[in-house]
Amino acid sequence: MKAKQNLMMSRTKNLMKNRMPAVVLAVLLFLLGAFLMEACAFADEAEQVVKITAKRYDYTPNTITVKKGVPVALEFTSLDRLHGFSCPGLAIRTDIAPGKVTTLRFVPQKAGTFPFHCDNFCGSGHEGMTGTIVVTE
Ligand code: CUA
Repeated sequence: MKAKQNLMMSRTKNLMKNRMPAVVLAVLLFLLGAFLMEACAFADEAEQVVKITAKRYDYTPNTITVKKGVPVALEFTSLDRLHGFSCPGLAIRTDIAPGKVTTLRFVPQKAGTFPFHCDNFCGSGHEGMTGTIVVTE
């Protein structure tokens, strides 16, 4: 009985000894996989930065193309006076004051073409100070 037990014990030990590196390897591979998936997800979510200058009476660029689901940071600079940026279709707006960079962050949730306009009166051409955000699938 004792001999049989010893044999069992030694078999179990051997099994452990032989299997251990495989188990460790499996765990390491799993961790590596998890890490890579996380890194890819992070890369997908990397923010798209778009620099936009505003002046009487236009935005440069005035067509901004972004991708649905990808976070966007619009960085506005005014070259002259207070302007506004309002894009009702995407429910975003900000003031654009001169002398500083104004950052507006959003994640486009739907594809389409969304007009934007200046919503702070800035002079005779104010009504024509417009542009478009194109959100692609
Ligand atoms: Cu710019 Cu109104």
